Amino acid sequence: MEKHLQHHIFKVLANIAAKHNIEAYVVGGYVRDIFLQRPSKDIDVVVLGNGIDFAELVGNQLKTKVAVFKNFGTAMLKYQDLEIEFVGARKESYRADSRKPIVENGTIKDDQLRRDFTINALAISLNKANYAALVDPFEGQLDLENKLIRTPLDPEITFSDDPLRMMRAIRFATQLNFSIDTSALAAISRQKERINIVSKERITDELNKIILAPQPSIGFKYLFDTGLLQLIFPQMANLYGVEIINGKGHKDNFYHTLQVLDNICSTTDDLWLRWAAILHDIAKPATKRFEDGHGWTFHGHEDKGARMVPQIFAQLKLPLNEKMKYVQKLVQLHLRPIVLAQEVVTDSAVRRLLFDAGEDIESLMQLCNADVTTKNEYKVKKYRNNFELVKQKLKDVEERDKIRNWQPPITGNDIMNIFGLGAGREVGIIKNAIREAILEGEINNSYEEALKFMLLKAKDLGLKPVE
Ligand code: CTP
Repeated sequence: MEKHLQHHIFKVLANIAAKHNIEAYVVGGYVRDIFLQRPSKDIDVVVLGNGIDFAELVGNQLKTKVAVFKNFGTAMLKYQDLEIEFVGARKESYRADSRKPIVENGTIKDDQLRRDFTINALAISLNKANYAALVDPFEGQLDLENKLIRTPLDPEITFSDDPLRMMRAIRFATQLNFSIDTSALAAISRQKERINIVSKERITDELNKIILAPQPSIGFKYLFDTGLLQLIFPQMANLYGVEIINGKGHKDNFYHTLQVLDNICSTTDDLWLRWAAILHDIAKPATKRFEDGHGWTFHGHEDKGARMVPQIFAQLKLPLNEKMKYVQKLVQLHLRPIVLAQEVVTDSAVRRLLFDAGEDIESLMQLCNADVTTKNEYKVKKYRNNFELVKQKLKDVEERDKIRNWQPPITGNDIMNIFGLGAGREVGIIKNAIREAILEGEINNSYEEALKFMLLKAKDLGLKPVE
């Protein structure tokens, strides 16, 4: 392993350890990532003894400040572009959030045993006797080769020690495209309720990491099958299932949503666009009807879905800011390009879509493309072709009319000044009429035409310009 300890920091650590007769190891994610060929800047060091004291020794030598977290028994320092964390080997449970003093003075094996997964329990020695040797008592290296998430201890104990690890297991499986060992999976199913003692923020952190993986459906299937999804995000679990009436079923909206999500992940890394894919059909269960002669309908699911977005964001402690508004807008508008693609595309319909979507028009088109999940090749081709047509039209109209981020050429203030009005209903009526006339293509998008149109309109309302 020596070639993986190129950075001179490892020699520095080893020399200090030797001088003070302390055993030290690099452990956890850094070692795992060596095997996964993902170079990392975060180094975790475990010493047999007091981690904080050892960190102070290192800090002195490197002339670097050491941040001490007494409650956790850990210390951290930054050196060049590295972040190095120190901890004493623990015999008892690893608890990220524990306020209780941590039991130290274990062996390196005790410490590894209390870590979450075998692939995260690999260590490399920094000691003279076996410098750079891999210390792998739980076959983590083999599990990396077999692409397996497994716990070093009985999984019931590992997950009970820290229930967030249930989310972490699924997160690592998704990021790395690994499977979860069957007994670990069974333990998650049995202990799922314990997720309720973990803070929403930490759960959502893991959920977002799942969503940012190349194929998030892997994680969502695990979450659903273990029953965790039903607890942490019930609205999404509700999408599952097919109802049949008079021999007619609708599609399973859970698997459809996962397909849309995976689809969009091949075109964007943006977390919020991915969230829009997750939420685009979220109100289908709530709006589902069986209509005789029609079959299954989900009328208004885009409106209701958009209304559900703030509540879901609040529940998951996602930010209630412009990101939420963006997701909400995409959920609200997600059917519009499809409707356009099915009809003869008129300029005014395109203008309206551009006006409503504004600068998010590309995101919306991406979402709609991802939403085509039919297995029918013919339909796929037809939709995609129509989308291309809609895109072309969007481009043409945009070039000609500059509707995106557009403000009508006459403002409310102009209207008040011209007619000597105070703020009120009439100003709104006139402003609206001008906007509609431009969007419908009755007049051009210019000040002169808008002014002419406005004067006529005002006459109908009995208004005259002030001299
Ligand atoms: N760990 C653990 N249980 C947890 C969190 C962490 O046992 N609930 C251990 C694992 O050995 C892990 C190490 O602490 O490798 C560092 O944790 P962390 O920095 O959260 O994760 P990484 O494994 O480094 O991975 P990532 O950076 O992708 O989160």
